[in-house]
Amino acid sequence: MFYRIVNDQIQLHLTHPHQTEELFALTDRNREFLKQWLPWLDKVQGPEDSRHFLKEQLQKYAEGTLLTVLIYYEGKIAGVMGFHQIGQSNRTAEIGYWLGEEYNGRGIITACVRELIKIGQEYLKLQKIIIRCATDNARSRAVPLRLGFELEGTFRRAENLHGRWIDINVFGLLLEENSHEPSD
Ligand SMILES: CC(C)(COP(=O)(O)OP(=O)(O)OC[C@H]1O[C@@H](n2cnc3c(N)ncnc32)[C@H](O)[C@@H]1OP(=O)(O)O)[C@@H](O)C(=O)NCCC(=O)NCCS
Repeated sequence: MFYRIVNDQIQLHLTHPHQTEELFALTDRNREFLKQWLPWLDKVQGPEDSRHFLKEQLQKYAEGTLLTVLIYYEGKIAGVMGFHQIGQSNRTAEIGYWLGEEYNGRGIITACVRELIKIGQEYLKLQKIIIRCATDNARSRAVPLRLGFELEGTFRRAENLHGRWIDINVFGLLLEENSHEPSD
């Protein structure tokens, strides 16, 4: 399959239905961990939901609206990340990510976001990348801060996460402008 090497241990793979069982197993065993910060866990009840996600992401990649990849760590699926909401006209995109709890604390997401920034700049010709995190999601906030993003502001009560309101920090990274003009 099509993948990008991040380092000796990490690869980023385009989504494909053959990853269904492994992705569902990772999601299912990390359900409670991920639910602290992500809203969609209740929608993933069985492997068919993971299969639908993988196919949908691949289709949207073909349409140019997002780029979702599975993170492989030492040959196993460790998490998911990507650019969602790629804005063609203003060449801006947002990065989202998650890892299974057992893969936290190893620098995996920081290395992957660094690689995704390169892809965004070289391939998608982005001029700005955004990361949004809950203000009290310390692990997630640490990622953009480690990579030189700047805090641009806070949306108060931006999201209702399983019954509690959360405030969201918005971090931005301005990329070097290149010669490409907006496509529309
Ligand atoms: C957010 C999330 C991906 C962060 O994972 P993470 O493992 O903390 O982030 P990284 O993979 O970049 O690893 C950083 C950690 O590895 C350590 N580390 C080890 N080697 C490292 C290296 N080479 N480079 C950077 N950090 C390294 C760092 O010290 C840090 O650990 P610490 O927080 O104990 O100091 C993860 O906690 C998660 O999936 N949470 C649930 C879902 C979620 O919140 N998603 C984001 C929604 S906005």
